Amino acid sequence: MRFNSVGFALSVGMLLIVVLIGFTLLSAAGLVGFAAEKSFAATSEAAGDSLSFSCGVVDQPRADVELRLSDLPPAEAKIIAAGDALFKGNCAQCHAVNEIIVGPALAGITRRRPISWILPWVKNSSKVVASGDEYAVALFNKFTKQQMPSFSLSDKEIASIIAYINVQESAVPAVAMVSKQ
Ligand code: HEC
Repeated sequence: MRFNSVGFALSVGMLLIVVLIGFTLLSAAGLVGFAAEKSFAATSEAAGDSLSFSCGVVDQPRADVELRLSDLPPAEAKIIAAGDALFKGNCAQCHAVNEIIVGPALAGITRRRPISWILPWVKNSSKVVASGDEYAVALFNKFTKQQMPSFSLSDKEIASIIAYINVQESAVPAVAMVSKQ
């Protein structure tokens, strides 16, 4: 009698284990809705697998984040195209956006200096240096006292060059800046 009840308990236990294993396999295969199914899908996503299981997460193709001139409103595209031409005609022999040529790389210039500094600088940098402006003097000394020529460009033309530089560097700030002009 005692032996029988142990045998009964054992066979119930075995049956339970078999059912559990079967259910886990089925749910892993996505055939049975079960909490295990979600965690299976989650781990396959975490592993960078774009396949989704029945919990319904599907990877969307990522939008192209690169901004082209043709994507901008026509007025802004015109300003940046003008800046491009002015930069190539007047500045490119000494400056690039991301590398030092004769003068410093101009990427990030609007984070280093306000536009109220950039305008007089481009028009007449030696005047800004002569005024004792700390930043200008340090920069002038750093570039072994090489003088940047003066340019008779309008505020708008200089702003368009800066907008072009910002577009080259990253799309968003330039658009914000141009729209403030
Ligand atoms: C003949 C070379 C030359 C040309 C052309 C030139 N620059 Fe420069 N630029 C320099 C040098 C050199 C410096 C570093 C400061 C100095 O030595 O006077 C400088 C510095 C600058 C700075 C400050 C950069 C910083 O990191 O703070 C700006 C802004 C600038 N130039 C804009 C322009 C623009 C815009 C043009 C075109 C309209 C231009 N430059 C044309 C040589 C030049």
